[in-house]
Formats: sequence, C-alpha cells, structure tokens
Amino acid sequence: MTISKAELNQHKLVAVESLADPIRRRWSPRAFADQPVTPAEIHSFLSAAQWAPSSSNEQPWIFLVGVKGTPTWDSLFASLVAANQSWAVNAAVLILGLARTRTASGRTNHYALYDLGQAVSQLSLQATALGLSVHQMGGFDRDSARHAFSLTEDHLLGAVIALGHQAEPSALNDEKYLERELAPRSRKPLAEIALTSLDTPLGLPDTL
Ligand SMILES: Cc1cc2nc3c(=O)[nH]c(=O)nc-3n(C[C@H](O)[C@H](O)[C@H](O)COP(=O)(O)O)c2cc1C
Repeated sequence: MTISKAELNQHKLVAVESLADPIRRRWSPRAFADQPVTPAEIHSFLSAAQWAPSSSNEQPWIFLVGVKGTPTWDSLFASLVAANQSWAVNAAVLILGLARTRTASGRTNHYALYDLGQAVSQLSLQATALGLSVHQMGGFDRDSARHAFSLTEDHLLGAVIALGHQAEPSALNDEKYLERELAPRSRKPLAEIALTSLDTPLGLPDTL
C-alpha cells in the first residue's frame, strides 16, 4: 500500500476538534527527510522550551543541541540504540534534554524532571506549529551520553529528541517501521485517566 505523507497526517490527526492545532497535528513519525532545519526554526522551538513554567522558576532544563554534521549530533547519534539509529539517521537535529537536580541555592529540586518534560512538550508543539516533526527516544545508552558530555550526578537525563522535516512514509525501508508509521493512533479513554477518586471516573464522555 502506498500512502502519501499528507494522507497519513490526515489519518493521524486527533479527532477532538476543540484542541489547539499543534496538539491535534503532533505525532511521532520515523520517516525524516534529509533536509536541514533553519537557525530561526531552532531559535523558535528552543524559545518555546525556555518559556515553559517551572517550580520556583528554577528552569532546571538544559538542551544539548546537535545539528547534523556537528560533533554533538554525532555523539548523540552514537548513543542511540541500533533500532533508533536506523530511522533517526536522517533527523536534522538531535537534542538531549537534561534536568539539573540541584537548585541555584544547592537544594534538591524534586521537580526537575517534571519541569524538563513540560519544556519538551512546549518545544514539540512549537516545532509542530512550524511544520516540523519531533520523535522522542528513551532508547539510548545513558552512560555513553554521560561520558560524551561529561555529565555529573546532578544531571538527570530525559530523552534524545529527533527533530526535522517529515519524509514520505515510503522513505522507510524497514517493513516493521513502515507498518508502525501507518498504524492508527490510540489513547486510553478519558474515563480511565480523569477520575474523582481512584475508583471513580469523572464521567466525561470520550467524544462530545
Ligand atoms: C520518553 C519517551 C521515550 C520514547 N522512546 C522511544 C524510543 O526509544 N523509540 C521510539 O521509536 N519511540 C519512542 N518514543 C515515542 C513513543 O512511542 C510515542 O510518543 C508514543 O507511541 C505515542 O505516539 P505519538 O507520539 O505519535 O502520539 C518515546 C516517547 C517518549 C515520550
């Protein structure tokens, strides 16, 4: 079966029409085009992360940003597990999100990872608004990344983020990944995640 990128993105669109456009359109493709991202685009999605809320405004996030062709991209790519390398090789940008667990005054920041996740969410949605695609990866060798960037025990590692222009799904030459690219998206029903107590759903319908 051949399906175009445009048709696929239409299938992946979240059906809830009241959602903000980038939330509806964001999904995690594996087919990335060998096409650069502009400095203005990089500035834009990192600014979105910069303006995320954080506990006590500590802003515990650090983004190690690797543009393809630079040593940072190479080190991040080398840390990925082989399965992720097979498709992330075309990503124009690889980013490792870090969370500093120590506050400016030396206390432990229990919200560091929470805040990093929130900043990455904003980054992802801004990238989507720019017409770019984002795919986060937990599948990487943390020791390799720690070593490559001389990270300390005060740095929590989030995920490696592949970012770039989406390619046509036919660009994926591994049958398994093509199948996943075309698969319908799924989520738990709201009745399972929106509760008034652990055994009582709030009672929202899944569609309005
Ligand atoms: C923290 C995190 C780690 C992930 N790790 C991987 C990974 O190693 N490889 C991969 O192909 N996808 C990975 N994903 C992508 C998820 O599988 C994907 O976000 C999820 O299936 C929901 O699909 P959607 O993003 O298209 O809505 C990861 C996502 C997150 C947020």
